[in-house]
Amino acid sequence: MIAINVENLVKKYRNGVQALDGISLTVGSGEIFSLLGQNGAGKSTLINVLTTYLRPTFGKVTMFGKDVYEEATEIRSRIACVAQRTSIDSHLSLSENMMFQSKLYKIRKIEAKQRMETLIACFGLERYLKYPVSSYSGGVKRRLDIALNMMSNPKILFLDEPTVGMDIQSRMAMWQMMKKIRADFGTTIFLTTHYLEEADQLSDTICIMKDGKEAAQGTPHALRNYLRQDVVEISFDSKERAKDSFRRITNTFGLERTNLRSEKIIINSPKSGEDLVHVSRFLLEEQITFMGINILQPSLDDVFIRLTGKQMGVS
Ligand SMILES: Nc1ncnc2c1ncn2[C@@H]1O[C@H](COP(=O)(O)OP(=O)(O)OP(=O)(O)O)[C@@H](O)[C@H]1O
Ligand SMILES: [Mg+2]
Repeated sequence: MIAINVENLVKKYRNGVQALDGISLTVGSGEIFSLLGQNGAGKSTLINVLTTYLRPTFGKVTMFGKDVYEEATEIRSRIACVAQRTSIDSHLSLSENMMFQSKLYKIRKIEAKQRMETLIACFGLERYLKYPVSSYSGGVKRRLDIALNMMSNPKILFLDEPTVGMDIQSRMAMWQMMKKIRADFGTTIFLTTHYLEEADQLSDTICIMKDGKEAAQGTPHALRNYLRQDVVEISFDSKERAKDSFRRITNTFGLERTNLRSEKIIINSPKSGEDLVHVSRFLLEEQITFMGINILQPSLDDVFIRLTGKQMGVS
């Protein structure tokens, strides 16, 4: 089943910036969907349009087959959004926050208590119950904020950069939490991120976004196949030897698909199996000493660079 369908969405801000430039995408029900893009690609704008905070200039969005803007009230009751800034009240405890949230959604007190207990147990948050939210680190606060947003039992949970600025431990705790949300509650998760590794680890589907448009969409595996070529990597025992061999290899295999990367030579190869045989034979015949020769699949980084012409930022 399709949870979200976006067709040709355009958003032009009043100052003339066109943040969304005809983006289309499809999110399957119950999946973790990652929107990957650099600063200013339009990720937050898209989340704000999908969650009905902003009206699009043009285009159509349906969720569970319903038009989002014609049935905004109903859609709002079925989704939740954790924005880039946390919305959880720092002066209250987690349970006070959760009970307050349930009032906003008019959930009966008995039900709310039950739901709260389920969520706290599911995410292992017992130890954060006692003290006000302000006493916890940024990473824990974000997880508490997500637990809070699960109180209304949303069908779709939108998360804008849920792990930005976190250390690796907090990030892994967050990934665990997202996987649990999908497994235990069947919630569709739509998240944005700068981190390729995160999208790769976590998502069923990734959409790479550039300048307000989708550049590619698919499973992490399908995106890797997008380049339709592997690389043959030859390792040497020193940079000097690699450099020396590089000249001889390019004479035979051509400069345009061969790269020198410190003590390695990389050959882009649409037919990696055949190339591996040719290159190994050449190295042996020419008596070039090498440490190893491998076929590598392109990384998501390679795909991203190819599609956007940019290196992904570290943060
Ligand atoms: N309220 C606004 N008014 C005018 N322009 C805006 C507004 N919000 C965002 N923009 C512009 O729209 C473009 C897309 O911004 P957006 O915040 O959606 O990108 P993003 O992918 O979320 O970036 P980041 O990774 O930095 O969060 C940018 O050029 C931004 O400056
Ligand atoms: Mg943003």
